[in-house]
Amino acid sequence: MTAHLLSIADLGVDGIGKVLRLADRFVEVNARPIPKVPALRGKTVASLFFEDSTRTRLSFETAARRLSADVLTFSAGSSSLNKGESLRDTVETVEAMGVDALVVRHRSSGVPWQVARWARRAAVVNGGDGWHEHPTQALLDCYTIRAERRARNLGEGLGGLHVGIVGDIRHSRVARSDVLAFGALGARVTLAAPPTLLPPSLEGWDVEVSHDLDGLLGKLDVVYLLRLQSERMTEALLPSLREYTATYGLTAQRAERLGPDTLVMHPGPVNRGVEVASDVADRSVITHQVANGVAVRMAVLFLLLGMVDG
Ligand code: NCD
Repeated sequence: MTAHLLSIADLGVDGIGKVLRLADRFVEVNARPIPKVPALRGKTVASLFFEDSTRTRLSFETAARRLSADVLTFSAGSSSLNKGESLRDTVETVEAMGVDALVVRHRSSGVPWQVARWARRAAVVNGGDGWHEHPTQALLDCYTIRAERRARNLGEGLGGLHVGIVGDIRHSRVARSDVLAFGALGARVTLAAPPTLLPPSLEGWDVEVSHDLDGLLGKLDVVYLLRLQSERMTEALLPSLREYTATYGLTAQRAERLGPDTLVMHPGPVNRGVEVASDVADRSVITHQVANGVAVRMAVLFLLLGMVDG
């Protein structure tokens, strides 16, 4: 594995496979009465979150603790950023405390790359940058698809599966990382969204596009829903929420078109009643995604930190 995890592209098919296989072992650890191993004893993981997060930050911190690493938490809202300290000085200050890994989330695309250039020894993990990438979300999504299909005796792997990603793809770093990861593992990906919520250009994206969700749903092995990321919208891109739900929401009625084995997924946070009906969310695999996220992040931290100097 590379020294940092910034993009799914850093891993390639082999790297993704390695993370997923190791995550299987950590899922077992997490099922034990005491879900903790000494693998990263003596290491320190810092989460540097410059943007709001519930699950990603808690997931990384839980993962680090289960590997017996020490954890430092930085939240932009209560930091010296408010006293005018620069991003670079913040990173250097945190690193000077002897940190081995920095998990970075920032509203601007590219910040984790910049942090990786400044870091002298710490491994940098991208915890979500702007609209750009969220590689560990994609890894846990691949893991969840694999595990759910295995549990239902539907076979191994993502090869040949048809995944529909529905909703606000334009503002979604999850969609960008998922498209790369699902494609690398051989799945076919169709994006379903109103034209205003698609990226301005799909050049280089290995996907198909559909504006007919009703026609698409019955053909999917996985339907992956996204939140309308209104905090990133600078203009009115939709006539109304009700109109969006009527055309692209996974309503109870629309969910009847899904095959019995189709997985319903969402990265969270969910806006119930908008992109997905509450009852449909309740029979999705969203909580399994969250649980698998801890094991997958344990695998990532272990691969980045566990092998170095014994
Ligand atoms: C996503 C994110 O922040 O990129 N959530 C997550 O990390 N699970 C998606 C979102 O905010 O809608």
